[in-house]
Amino acid sequence: MSRRVIVIGSGAVGSTYAFALLQSGLVEEIVLLDQNRDLAAGQAMDLSHGLPFVLAARVYAGGEEDLKDADMVVITAGAKQRPGQSRLDLLKVNAAIMKSIADSLEKQCGSEIPVMVVTNPVDVMTYALYRYTGWSRRLIFGSGTVLDSARFRYMLSRHCGVDSRSVHAYVIGEHGDSEVPAWSLTHIAGIPFDTYCGQCNRCNEDREKVKKTVEEEVRNSAYHIIDYKGATWFAVALAMTRITSAVLRNERSVLTVSTVLKGEYGLNDLCLSVPCIVGRNGIEQIIEADLKDPEKEALSLSAGVIHSAVKELSL
Ligand code: LAC
Repeated sequence: MSRRVIVIGSGAVGSTYAFALLQSGLVEEIVLLDQNRDLAAGQAMDLSHGLPFVLAARVYAGGEEDLKDADMVVITAGAKQRPGQSRLDLLKVNAAIMKSIADSLEKQCGSEIPVMVVTNPVDVMTYALYRYTGWSRRLIFGSGTVLDSARFRYMLSRHCGVDSRSVHAYVIGEHGDSEVPAWSLTHIAGIPFDTYCGQCNRCNEDREKVKKTVEEEVRNSAYHIIDYKGATWFAVALAMTRITSAVLRNERSVLTVSTVLKGEYGLNDLCLSVPCIVGRNGIEQIIEADLKDPEKEALSLSAGVIHSAVKELSL
């Protein structure tokens, strides 16, 4: 079976994702779309010249008509944060792009297929695409805080001296300033972080101070990287590839993707990230994690931020 992913937006994030996807061996066909057709053509040509080094696949620049028989669509198109800008500052300009893409999906796709939104502010853009298309909430989801959870795991691994793949940790809520590191769900070696921290003699720092430092590092990561190099693209592309693998290989992985909530966590009419089982049908199940009260309050505040942005778009 030939798996085909359409990438809408061939800038740094879209092309780096295509590069990571090509190396993953997950797909047989990658089609790059962009309003700047020369950019899409150049990216596709550059990637194609590397094909002798990876598993057989085809990469080319396409057009809206290629949406017809896609197995998955990934949307990275849109304005990106400039230094000092928040993700929510991109709201209006990127919502218009989502509307245009929704119209193309409606026109070209014979059936509803999994669509991953990456364009920021990703929670609001995901909800906008869901409303504009009217498709199933299972199939329209965002990359959400999968990247933030990875940053959280990395920062903890660096502090605790443990492989980041042995750290189980989730950031939930907005992919943005109001995100919520869910410490109560954080485990190392299957041991709750607070217990692990109590028996690890690696540092003698105050635990609450460590937590505060890690939280700030995770929350402000993108701002720091943008200040250094103008944008982020590597880790988010790897997070996107991870999510794509869960969908195309029906892995039923638990990932904190941005999903439409209809009563889960007591929240409605918005998208934000919570642990979800991700498989061939997109969001297979939304998991209601057992959060502590301060985390529930922080999630509710995060939902308030997103609700305000959703209201600004009159969705
Ligand atoms: C970041 C972008 C993807 O957090 O929002 O790097």
